[in-house]
Amino acid sequence: MEIDLLGHDANRAYKLLASAVVPRPIALVTTQDRQGRVNAAPFSFFNLMGSQPPILAINIADLLDGSPKHTRANIAATKEFVVNLVHRDIAESMNVCAIDFPGGANELDFAKFTPASSTKVAPPRIAESRVQIECTLAEVVNVGNNHVVIGNIVYLHVADEFLDKERMRVRTPELDLIGRMHGSGWYARTTDLFEIPRILFSEWNMKENDRAKSNGE
Ligand SMILES: Cc1cc2nc3c(=O)[nH]c(=O)nc-3n(C[C@H](O)[C@H](O)[C@H](O)COP(=O)(O)O)c2cc1C
Repeated sequence: MEIDLLGHDANRAYKLLASAVVPRPIALVTTQDRQGRVNAAPFSFFNLMGSQPPILAINIADLLDGSPKHTRANIAATKEFVVNLVHRDIAESMNVCAIDFPGGANELDFAKFTPASSTKVAPPRIAESRVQIECTLAEVVNVGNNHVVIGNIVYLHVADEFLDKERMRVRTPELDLIGRMHGSGWYARTTDLFEIPRILFSEWNMKENDRAKSNGE
């Protein structure tokens, strides 16, 4: 079926696209307002966008009444935030942080998360998260109701037991990170893995030549 998301089916865009473009990683974002009050909320329109310099992006939509979510308002005010990655054991607490609490409510308390001081930015990290990424605001790209926050990654925390310090590699399978799936409440674990090594053109070419030779081409 062909679906015209700019015409007849425009109001179905979110449900259709967010159920098809999956799994999406989840940024549990901690921010502070100008008075220093802490806020936390999850966002799955999120990904790493580059490494030289390291940047990430999060899309924060407006509320139905057109007002900004607390996370966006806080980032606009202080230009700092922390992305805490979400693994299976903290998924339910992450979901508590998505509740539309009134401004000034500290979701970390309601979700029973422990704040930990950040190194380069003021908003706290979430101690229970296994990977925490400190960011400063690079810019916001506004497209209609979308506000894509681009963050400079200024500091990275990886819990010791999930880092191979000799090789400086993250033990990714052990992180047990989750992704957002279809509907408003489905998630996936990252425990069903398979490997496909990358192929260089020279290797590809050699194999093609061998194949052609053995076929007498
Ligand atoms: C797993 C998950 C992912 C979400 N992803 C987004 C998102 O990408 N963009 C967005 O605007 N809201 C998203 N939300 C909804 C926000 O978390 C929710 O509106 C929250 O109350 C915003 O909090 P704040 O006003 O404190 O910033 C998501 C919710 C959940 C549970």
